[in-house]
Amino acid sequence: MDRFEIEGSAPLHGNVRPSGNKNEALPALMACLLTDQEIVFRRMPRIRDVETVVEILRELGAKAEWSNDGESLTICASSVDAAKTNRQLCQKVRASVLLIGPLLARVGRAAIPLPGGDVIGARRIDTHVDGLRALGASIHFDDGLHAAAKKLVGADIYLDEPSVTATENLLIASVLADGTTTLYNAASEPHVVGLCRLLSAMGAKIDGIGTNRLTVHGVSKLSGCEHTIGPDFMETGSFLCLAAASKSKLTIKDVIADDLRFPLRVFQRLGISAELSASDSSPQSSSASSSSSSDLCDLIVDGTQPMKMATDMTGRTATIYSGPWPAFPTDLMSVAITAATQTEGTMIFFEKMFEGRMFFTDKLISMGANIVLCDPHRAVVNGPSPLIGAHMSSPDVRAGMALLIAATVAKGRSTIENVYQIDRGYHAIDKKLEALGAKIKRISP
Ligand code: EPU
Repeated sequence: MDRFEIEGSAPLHGNVRPSGNKNEALPALMACLLTDQEIVFRRMPRIRDVETVVEILRELGAKAEWSNDGESLTICASSVDAAKTNRQLCQKVRASVLLIGPLLARVGRAAIPLPGGDVIGARRIDTHVDGLRALGASIHFDDGLHAAAKKLVGADIYLDEPSVTATENLLIASVLADGTTTLYNAASEPHVVGLCRLLSAMGAKIDGIGTNRLTVHGVSKLSGCEHTIGPDFMETGSFLCLAAASKSKLTIKDVIADDLRFPLRVFQRLGISAELSASDSSPQSSSASSSSSSDLCDLIVDGTQPMKMATDMTGRTATIYSGPWPAFPTDLMSVAITAATQTEGTMIFFEKMFEGRMFFTDKLISMGANIVLCDPHRAVVNGPSPLIGAHMSSPDVRAGMALLIAATVAKGRSTIENVYQIDRGYHAIDKKLEALGAKIKRISP
């Protein structure tokens, strides 16, 4: 497996452009199974998880072709054979659970291996199963998850938690169902909105997009379309934390302001100053209200300014906690913790969603960070602390990025093994960092 060798503390500056949002791309690819017509994607991130899902679709009978620009992908599932579901490939990506909805809708049956436990914690699929059963699917478990339905029928579904992929699975399953489906307590992350936009462009009738109550009026057929995947706001947040931790000024190009307004409020509490700019000449403060929802703009992060973590109004140590949208995304917790190690003050980080996401902090501690891991969900970070290079392995995609940021900031050389984990979610991250001035090499065995 590839590893990164990083010579830390190199000055960084310049522009960087995030790829398309991984967590929009994966369900969007699965939604291609709903139609026999062609779907053309722009800004499709050519990351490992996407390549794996494309391979799964090919095995099922779909045609997939990347364009020369490496960001456009055309998928055509003119025929689908559910019996060709590749178990080994499915076991590589948790998003394979998203095959159930489209296969049920298109061919009336689906069988996948049970998605395993993840290093970030146990992840239940009860919300998916309850919702699909409410739509009329029969589901049983043995060597995996087996689902069948002659015809899905719309229903009122109260999700027991606003699960991102369960909402997506149920949306994809219900767009071709008979009658109306209402999803209550639905997830509303930008990637869920992106999936709704794609399904609407294919001819689906969805009301309440962007809210936690989605109403789907079933249609009999969907068609092909073109769809641009939104910029990955987790990657944007990662570059923002890189700028802050490395005391650099970076411009993150082609982002969507509305995806960032809530996370930016939290980053402000870490003392990180960032401005959204509609164009180079008309900067707009990150706390100002939005003029446009989905127009692309730039985010300028000035890590050269002094950064101080906020306290509560009474002066007590403050807490940053993760939660379903619009709360702070769990997928930004790891990079935020790394940024906090380079910021003055104290902050409690409370990871409410996953019980395994905080364990990577032991690696930051070994680099010199002053962090107390209180329990699997909470860590107290005292900053700033100088970091020194270390030999590390990447436990999951987001922790991997957080360690990469730490290595870029640290004094001396770091090695990060198991780069596969970072490649799952960040396209050509070594090239992007190199273009900003980082001294990073990818070593292949
Ligand atoms: N959860 C709560 N409270 C809630 C909602 C969820 O505690 O109100 C817990 C769940 O019980 C579960 C965890 O949070 O343990 C995640 O829940 P969810 O079902 O929403 O996660 P998911 O759909 O399996 C997607 C992303 C993850 C991201 C989560 C949360 C995809 C393909 N995956 O997973 O992405 O962390 O939503 O936003 O979209 C990543 O990109 O690194 C990643 C892990």
